[in-house]
Amino acid sequence: MDQRDKLSGMTVGLHWLLAFGMIGMLVFGLVLEDMPKGDSKAALMWWHKGLGVAVLAFALWRLGWRMTQGFPAALSHAPAWQEKIAGLTHWFLLLGTLFMPISGLLMSLSRNRAVDVLGLFTIPPFGEIEVLHEVAEAVHGLGGKLLIAAIILHVVGAVKHEAVDKDGTMARMAGRRVEPRIEA
Ligand code: HEM
Ligand code: HEM
Repeated sequence: MDQRDKLSGMTVGLHWLLAFGMIGMLVFGLVLEDMPKGDSKAALMWWHKGLGVAVLAFALWRLGWRMTQGFPAALSHAPAWQEKIAGLTHWFLLLGTLFMPISGLLMSLSRNRAVDVLGLFTIPPFGEIEVLHEVAEAVHGLGGKLLIAAIILHVVGAVKHEAVDKDGTMARMAGRRVEPRIEA
C-alpha cells in the first residue's frame, strides 16, 4: 500500500522500470526510424517489438495498481496551475506507456505482420487494414514526440521539487520515508 510518507515498493519499482523502459524504447524507436532498410534494422526491429510488448505487460500492471491506489498526494503546495499540469502530465505519461506499445502492435498487425514476442509467443496478424495502419502509425509517431515533451516537463517538475521546494518528492520516489510538510 502507498502511504503519504512512504510509497510502496510496487509503486517505486514499477515507476523506475517503466521510466527507463519507456525512455529506452523512445530512443530505440528514433534510432530505428533513421536506419536504412536491411538485415540489421530487421533484427533490431524484432527486439523493439518484443521489448515493447513486455513494456505493455508492466504498464497494464501499473495501471491496475494506480487505479487501486490513486496517484501519490503532493508533499508541498504549489500554485494551482502547476498542480493541474503535474496531474495532467502524470495521466498522459501513464497513458503513454499503453498507447505507444498498443499503437506499435496495431501498426504491425494491420500490415498483416505477425509479432513474435522475444521468441516466447506470436501474436497473429489482422490482415491488411490500411486505415488502421495509418491511424496507428500517426499515434506511434506523434504520440512518441508528445511523450518526449511530457517526460521533459515531468523531469523539470522533479528537479524543481528537489532544488526549489526541497520537499522530499524525489526521496519518496526512491522508496524512502519522508516528512510531509502539509496536511493531506
Ligand atoms: C528520469 C526521469 C524521471 C524522474 C526523475 C521521475 C521522477 C518522478 C517522481 C519524483 C515522481 C513522484 C511525483 C509525486 O510524488 O507526486 C514521479 C511520478 C510519476 N512518474 Fe516519473 N520520473 C521520471 C521518468 C518518468 C517516465 C519516463 C514516466 C513515464 C513514461 C514517468 C511516469 C510517472 C508517473 C505516471 C508518475 C505518477 C506516479 C506513478 O504512477 O508511479 N516518469 N516521477
Ligand atoms: C514502449 C513501447 C514503445 C515505444 C516507446 C516506441 C517508440 C517508437 C518510436 C519513438 C518510434 C519512431 C517514431 C516513428 O515511428 O515515427 C518507433 C517506431 C516504430 N515502432 Fe515503436 N515503440 C514502442 C513499441 C512498439 C511495439 C510493441 C511495436 C510493434 C509490435 C512497435 C513498432 C514500431 C515500428 C514498426 C516502428 C517504425 C520503424 C521504422 O521507421 O521503420 N513499437 N517506436
